[in-house]
Amino acid sequence: MIKEAFQKTFGTEPDVTARAPGRVNLIGEHTDYNDGFVLPAAIDRSIDFGARRRKDNVVHVYSIDFEDQAEFSLDAIEKDNDRPWSNYLRGVLKFLQQDGHRLTGFDVAFGGNVPREAGLSSSAAVEVGAVALAMNLFNIELGPLEVVRLARRAENEFVNVPCGIMDQFVCALGKRDHALFLDCRDLTYRHVPLSGRVKIVVCYSGVHRALTASEYEIRLQQCRQAVAQLGTTGLAVKSLREIDLTDLEVASHSLSEILLKRARHVVSENDRVLKAVKNLEKGDLDSFGRLMIASHESLRDDYEVSCKELDVLVELALKQPGVLGARMTGAGFGGCTVNLVLADAAGPFAEVVKEGYSKATGLNAEVYVRKASDGALVGA
Ligand code: GLA
Repeated sequence: MIKEAFQKTFGTEPDVTARAPGRVNLIGEHTDYNDGFVLPAAIDRSIDFGARRRKDNVVHVYSIDFEDQAEFSLDAIEKDNDRPWSNYLRGVLKFLQQDGHRLTGFDVAFGGNVPREAGLSSSAAVEVGAVALAMNLFNIELGPLEVVRLARRAENEFVNVPCGIMDQFVCALGKRDHALFLDCRDLTYRHVPLSGRVKIVVCYSGVHRALTASEYEIRLQQCRQAVAQLGTTGLAVKSLREIDLTDLEVASHSLSEILLKRARHVVSENDRVLKAVKNLEKGDLDSFGRLMIASHESLRDDYEVSCKELDVLVELALKQPGVLGARMTGAGFGGCTVNLVLADAAGPFAEVVKEGYSKATGLNAEVYVRKASDGALVGA
């Protein structure tokens, strides 16, 4: 598909291609920017790139999904508010140059099938894919962590979205049929095999994550405030990752009700990730599923980032046979739920949830059975 799109726009074959997947997070939500633990997987939906070098210093970029084109010089890369889809690529190129890599102009087309604004990290896929493409196009050698950091920097400092590191990390380093267990403090990770007995089913609520940007920033600040106030009790920590529920209880008088709820989510979620990884490794999928359910309740009640539609999807899911766990996934306020469903039950599950959801909300859900797949830097 990418080769044809490139050919149609630029009249020749692309010289190089690259691909990066979207992701779904199984458990460990809103923990990454608190130095905590996450357990996402890259999915079999991706963004593809095709490119060819030019002789000048200009980048011509075509977005297949937006059917739109932009052009900019590498000499002065600015944010384009009229074509926000092009900013992930611009950010990556700007920081590559800042880091001393020599680029020339090029023609590039990109697009794919990661749903946008659905909480499946289409933006991280574009950023990581853009880094992988530039490495191929200009023979740049970067280590995996450099790729991940550069992609995140484009999102934080160019697009100006203050995300954590989870999405770019798993888009780059996820592995087929595995989840990725990442410690966001020291960036050590390992791949944990996913059992063939279950399927990962993703339900898209049809609700775009409108509030996400502002509420995300508020949660981030609240976590910082909680850390600062815990410090007044003598609990000198750098992040919520460093305390457990007992510490939090002892120091709870230093926090307002709201900050206590936010901190309790993060601290309990870290604990759930550690338990979930152990359960997955010993094949105890029932316990894993129960942790997903507890994660959703914590995100809904303590972190307050769910919404009616996501709650409806989770409630419906938990009534279906063969469902071990269900929760909202990603930043929240819309987007998707992730469900762990016994393989045989996944087909009927999709039908019943779609029907029940449209009856309850008047909206159409999209239900996808997803496979964990290789990240942009793995396999291929
Ligand atoms: C978004 C961010 C991630 C992470 C999740 C919540 O996807 O990009 O860094 O914080 O929200 O877990």
